[in-house]
Amino acid sequence: MDVTETAKPPPTTKLLGTCQQCESPLPLRHPQPGEQALQWECTQCGRTYLGILLDDWPAEFQGNVRAVAPPAAAKPSSPLETDLSRELDAKITQGLSLDLQPRGRPFAEQVQSHGAKPYDARTQRRFIQLIHRTTEQLRGLFSTLAMHGAAQLDVADSISRNGLSRVAEDRDLLVYVGATQSWGDFPARHAVRVSMLAMSVGTALGWDEQTLLNLGTGCLVHDAGLLSIESATDVDEQQLSDDDFAEIVKHPLLTFELLKPYMDRIPAAVRMVAYQMHERCDGSGYPRGYRGSRIHALAKIAAVAEVFISLVSTRSNRPAMAPYEALSKILHDTRDGLFDPQAVRGLLNTVSLFPIGSHVSLNDGRVGRVIRTTAEEYDRPIVEVWRGDEPPSNPGVIDLSRRGGLAITGALAGTGS
Ligand SMILES: [Fe+2]
Repeated sequence: MDVTETAKPPPTTKLLGTCQQCESPLPLRHPQPGEQALQWECTQCGRTYLGILLDDWPAEFQGNVRAVAPPAAAKPSSPLETDLSRELDAKITQGLSLDLQPRGRPFAEQVQSHGAKPYDARTQRRFIQLIHRTTEQLRGLFSTLAMHGAAQLDVADSISRNGLSRVAEDRDLLVYVGATQSWGDFPARHAVRVSMLAMSVGTALGWDEQTLLNLGTGCLVHDAGLLSIESATDVDEQQLSDDDFAEIVKHPLLTFELLKPYMDRIPAAVRMVAYQMHERCDGSGYPRGYRGSRIHALAKIAAVAEVFISLVSTRSNRPAMAPYEALSKILHDTRDGLFDPQAVRGLLNTVSLFPIGSHVSLNDGRVGRVIRTTAEEYDRPIVEVWRGDEPPSNPGVIDLSRRGGLAITGALAGTGS
């Protein structure tokens, strides 16, 4: 069975026609599943949009947008090799362990639908406590691994299982909590948040429960090796010196050294996620610089989840990016070939174009906060709305996919975490 068959229906095709800000003609159509989502900028006012290029637009629509995307800088891959990495590299080169077949019904069938309901306050507190508690548990596991003690790897499995149950309970709320609870405890908290977002994205792409648990566990254990690197504090990899970066690129391999005594209990898919989630489809990733066909499908999902969580997180050397900016950057990079378009489609489906947690302005003068995605339209999510600077204690909730006259006119700064 092809997993694409189990994904949600494609978004409605929509011709933007004119720029929503300056009314210049825009030759754009919203991307369908399987199409690469590109980012475009209106040449008249600079407003950015998602879309694909059409060859057959009338002349008056030509030349009013331009693609926005600087080429990705190549990063060095790691020269470090171990017995385990040689074994993995051999399998990857032969195409072994890269195939992924569904092992059951799509987990999405178990995900509860909440329509346009606001978040339940008690459930939200419980989810936040879950992030705190599982971060503590994972930090303990990382410490034990770093000291070569007797680690309970079952901890990672139970965190994944617990997280996936929360995906089923309220996926939007889990994404919101995961995107905003970023302070401290790097890398354990980061790993927990990446794991939960990755499982949410994998759910949107139609994967089954066991596959999603492998994805979640791979994300959880992946960063254990960072504890062995002195420069791997809570920093943005984009801003590290070359020397520091040369150390950082070793961390997936160092993780494998720490996991060596437990390797017989770690499924192949978990290993591939942990080994390859910093690889990029254009070969610019690490530790090996593999290109798309040599990267495991779950590692591609983990990659987009990891980058999104990184960008919306405050780092010691930079502020958090607003969710909309983070997603825009990922779409830029996807156009440049860094990320797998299907994985990015799963991310879009999971967080929406104006991602969950974003503050946005509406065309009727109100402002709002995106709280839930809608099934078909990336740019018309469910929002809490209010007038003025501060949200009231009980804001109204609007499903923009059902309100044709209302639309988001832009993302507001000051969100993220
Ligand atoms: Fe990492």
